[in-house]
Amino acid sequence: MKQASENIVEIKNVSKSFKNVHAVNDISLTVKKGEYLALLGPNGAGKTTLVEMIEGLQHPDSGEILLLNSHWGRHKDFLHRAIGISLQETRFIDKLTVKETLMLFASFYSESSKRVDEIVELTGLQEKTRSYTVNLSGGQRQRLALGIALINKPGILLLDEPTTGLDPASRREIWRILLDLKEREKTTMILTTHYMEEASYLCDKIVIMHKGRILARGKLHELLSGNNSGEIIEFFPDNPEQKPDFSCLPGIRNIEWDEQSGKCKLIINEIVETLPVFMKHTHALGYTLKSLECRKMTLEDLFVEMTGRTFSENE
Ligand SMILES: Nc1ncnc2c1ncn2[C@@H]1O[C@H](COP(=O)(O)OP(=O)(O)OP(=O)(O)O)[C@@H](O)[C@H]1O
Ligand SMILES: [Mg+2]
Repeated sequence: MKQASENIVEIKNVSKSFKNVHAVNDISLTVKKGEYLALLGPNGAGKTTLVEMIEGLQHPDSGEILLLNSHWGRHKDFLHRAIGISLQETRFIDKLTVKETLMLFASFYSESSKRVDEIVELTGLQEKTRSYTVNLSGGQRQRLALGIALINKPGILLLDEPTTGLDPASRREIWRILLDLKEREKTTMILTTHYMEEASYLCDKIVIMHKGRILARGKLHELLSGNNSGEIIEFFPDNPEQKPDFSCLPGIRNIEWDEQSGKCKLIINEIVETLPVFMKHTHALGYTLKSLECRKMTLEDLFVEMTGRTFSENE
């Protein structure tokens, strides 16, 4: 199909509600060819709802979604062949082996057993081709799900939390496969994740979602620059009951007390500006610390500052 725009994915003012929940609220975004985009957000942010609308599995209440300048309502068959998807939860047929499962999906797209062999190699499942899917480990299941998503050589890959629950080594294995694809096939991808490290390591662009809306978007360094750039002084006081007022210190942007752990986080403009005054101030108050850490602001700090929530908190 002829492409009139370099945008592979175009989402224009898309909304979707379930009763009184605005799961996706007037979202617009674009993804260019070869770009990897992360939808990052806590539970209930609307990531799955948005991705499933892009996949044609759910329909927007309003707005428009175009993939390769095509519309689910008019070019369903074309789009089914153009995309590869892996859902948040994948169920396989227990009593099919890995190879049989891949052969089954290959047959849907008239792909040959040669393609199945390529997928087995790409996903590192050579040792498991004869194993029943029910006996696979979590990481192997995720790799099989990714293999199925890739079987039709999709130009657009849509992955909903491909590494959730995996140990760091299995997660890195999935990252390796995805980076390999980016380099070799110029695949375009939208991935949802709770992991900031995943978004920043894999993706060109990051979209932070919360309560159905986009809070911030851009490359990692863009997100952590300009008005959002900052540094952090973080400490555990000896006496968590004592909470002095630090708002009088120079360069203070925000103060967060974690009631459970007793930790205090000062978001500031510059450590060199605030730290000496902070030390004098605490000394004068007789306020002693168990530990103190100074560091640059991260994506998680930015997210907590914007929403008052961590990535892993539930609604
Ligand atoms: N089929 C549905 N019926 C009713 N409410 C729904 C339905 N699907 C999603 N929701 C609600 O819409 C909101 C967004 O859900 P969604 O699954 O898109 O979030 P998410 O960002 O994918 O979360 P998670 O990180 O937990 O997967 C939530 O409040 C959820 O309860
Ligand atoms: Mg989800």
